[in-house]
Amino acid sequence: MLDLSRQYASIREEVLSAITRVCDSQRYILGGEVVVFEREFASLCGTADAVGCASGTDALWLAMAAGGIRSGEAVITTPFSFFASASSILRAGARPVFADIDPETLNLDPSSVEQRLKLSPAHIRAVMPVHLYGQCADMDGLDRVASEFKLLVIEDAAQAVGATWKGKPAGALGVAAAFSYYPTKNLSAFGDAGAVTTDDSAIAQHIRSLRDHGSKKRYYHDEIGANSRLDAIQAAVLRVKMPHLQSWNDARRKRAGIYDRLLVSAGLTKTAANAAAPVVLLKTRPEAHHIYHQYVVRVRQRDELRAFLTERGVGSEIYYPIPLHLQKCFAYLGYTQGDLPQAESAAATVLALPMFAELEADEQRYVVDSIAEFYS
Ligand SMILES: Cc1ncc(COP(=O)(O)O)c(C=O)c1O
Repeated sequence: MLDLSRQYASIREEVLSAITRVCDSQRYILGGEVVVFEREFASLCGTADAVGCASGTDALWLAMAAGGIRSGEAVITTPFSFFASASSILRAGARPVFADIDPETLNLDPSSVEQRLKLSPAHIRAVMPVHLYGQCADMDGLDRVASEFKLLVIEDAAQAVGATWKGKPAGALGVAAAFSYYPTKNLSAFGDAGAVTTDDSAIAQHIRSLRDHGSKKRYYHDEIGANSRLDAIQAAVLRVKMPHLQSWNDARRKRAGIYDRLLVSAGLTKTAANAAAPVVLLKTRPEAHHIYHQYVVRVRQRDELRAFLTERGVGSEIYYPIPLHLQKCFAYLGYTQGDLPQAESAAATVLALPMFAELEADEQRYVVDSIAEFYS
């Protein structure tokens, strides 16, 4: 699915010298390295500020807490995402409300959000689009609904460093945005790490306090925060990687184009003329610059195909097998099977194929030949 050693080999000397710089400084938590990283990451996202923290999960909570989400309120989001998109809403004291997804992109569907708000807008204070697999959600549609119902937009941009919507970067499309640098992400640290971007200096300041136990001055605590500081080694590694990000993202886009072409030319993809074909490609919206954090298709006999690919030595993953509204821990919210049919259908059919910048064309051919062999 992902061979991190190839990226590491290409930047090994740079990374080791950056880590050595931190070790020589003996300054491991926050400090100058983190300050410079924050400035560079804000510039990459086109925002006034970025605040580093311990993980993408914490970044979501920090964005919501500092964005002003309070207990008793609700945040509307997609049920087709990683667990933290919803758990962070609860952690901020609010309640997640789920709307359905667009079956072509698998991102939050603005018309479903609107329908849910028309049913009962009470207490819904914010909308959280997740830019799934590296493609921005339909921000035109979501902005229109957000302004009609006076909602804050808080982005989950964990999978979308470098993605844009109409040329505007993920991270600059709402009041605040959360990023993850988990090692499998397209911009990744050597451990857990995350950040929040924002143009609002009050939110940035509040996050700086919240990530450090609600304290602006040592041992003086204005509120209860958390220990969610970014460490200097992660910041140094991220600083080495950032200048490479654009070329890595370009390589991912090229790899995605190759998969599309190979799948189409093998006759595997569903078209009007070939409605019985087993593979459906996801759509990329013309407004979106997709960075393919993942390359995902929808397939017939998904689980059998996956077992076959595993036997042939091809990695694959299911992002995500259980939609969030059907997770056991959210049962008390009262959703049942059938409530969000597009998300449920996606969970039963999606399959992510190997995707990383250093993937090679003959490896991609082997993946697609193996899929063709399964259906033959
Ligand atoms: C969409 C999404 N949101 C949030 C997270 C949480 O990030 P982290 O694993 O850094 O806590 C992830 C990644 O795991 C993610 O993919």
